[in-house]
Amino acid sequence: MKNSFGTNVIVTLFGESHGQQIGVVIDGLAPGLEVNDDFINSQLAKRRPSGKISTSRVEMDEYQIVSGVVNGLTTGTPICILIPNTNTKSSDYEKLKTVPRPGHADYTACCKYHGFQDPRGGGHFSGRITAPLVAAGAIAIDALAKKGIVIGSHIARCAGVDDKKIMGSNLAVDNDELKKTLAKLNEADFALIDDSVKSAMIEKMEAAAAEGDSVGGVLETAIAGLPAGIGEPWFDTFESVMSHMLFSVPAIKGVEFGDGFAMTDMMGSQSNDSFYMDGDKVKTKTNHNGGINGGITNGMPVVFSCAVKPTPSIYKKQDSVNLKEGKNEELVIEGRHDPAIIHRARVVVDSVVALVLVDMLSGRYGTDYLAD
Ligand SMILES: Cc1cc2nc3c(=O)[nH]c(=O)nc-3n(C[C@H](O)[C@H](O)[C@H](O)COP(=O)(O)O)c2cc1C
Repeated sequence: MKNSFGTNVIVTLFGESHGQQIGVVIDGLAPGLEVNDDFINSQLAKRRPSGKISTSRVEMDEYQIVSGVVNGLTTGTPICILIPNTNTKSSDYEKLKTVPRPGHADYTACCKYHGFQDPRGGGHFSGRITAPLVAAGAIAIDALAKKGIVIGSHIARCAGVDDKKIMGSNLAVDNDELKKTLAKLNEADFALIDDSVKSAMIEKMEAAAAEGDSVGGVLETAIAGLPAGIGEPWFDTFESVMSHMLFSVPAIKGVEFGDGFAMTDMMGSQSNDSFYMDGDKVKTKTNHNGGINGGITNGMPVVFSCAVKPTPSIYKKQDSVNLKEGKNEELVIEGRHDPAIIHRARVVVDSVVALVLVDMLSGRYGTDYLAD
């Protein structure tokens, strides 16, 4: 029974979708880091639903930091952030404890918590619980940016429509150019490298919503400016620690670093990233390995992709079971749901990536590294 992540900077997540409050405790962050409310609010706004491509449940996320921050600076003691739930319609969820939604966690929650779980709005499994992660992540993103480390994601593919990719482009081998692109993505409400595909993508998302269905996609994320030497050789490799966190984000079903599976069709002479000297810096000419060798960052941009599945709660009739009566039953889901998760998940991914990085960097260079 565990809801915490991290070794040096430990994040604990709590709350239920329709409970009074949801929240996060971050323990181990350096003292003296700036906590910028405008930035936290702008990050929360990126996760907030909007229009026909999102759920109609809009929460204003009026968070409160109840400990660990004084006069806008971290104290170094646990930071607790609370976010109230104000827009709930719990009656929509009553039958889901008995007739679970295919693709959601209603059935597995019942197996694990023996029926004592809170089923309202998906309870502790709801995408709603990612709001505190975004608030916590904003503090980490801000601290990392001051050390020259920039994170950003874009919707590489959704409902069969492709954006341009970072992998395979000059951005994957040039930290400075990548930072400029990530800055642009981080300003955008709908994060694309090539904005000309936006209307086609949104049309497909809206069409799925109109049919009572949902769509998935791929997020591509990059980290620019990360020093070489982060990650451990065996069990806590950079990829494994990062994936551990990424797979905690609801609806993420695949993570691929660099060219990942596509490397299996290459020759070694193609997939090896040749080294060269750029002044006194060691760089690689290509970046098929996504900035990681032997589980340790090599100083090139770190690039990875996450597969985000279609939203499980759809409005089409589905086959399920009645757990009380032990028989098959058709299910028609009510309630408010996202027809696609990907456009809201991208800031969640950036946030959890930042939380992993502050943890790993604190392990490598010490707690005060971020504040120096
Ligand atoms: C930002 C965000 C919003 C989400 N919105 C919904 C939603 O409206 N309806 C739904 O059924 N699932 C939604 N999900 C996904 C479910 O929480 C998730 O699929 C479920 O907990 C099962 O976990 P799994 O998909 O990782 O197996 C959302 C996830 C995220 C990250």
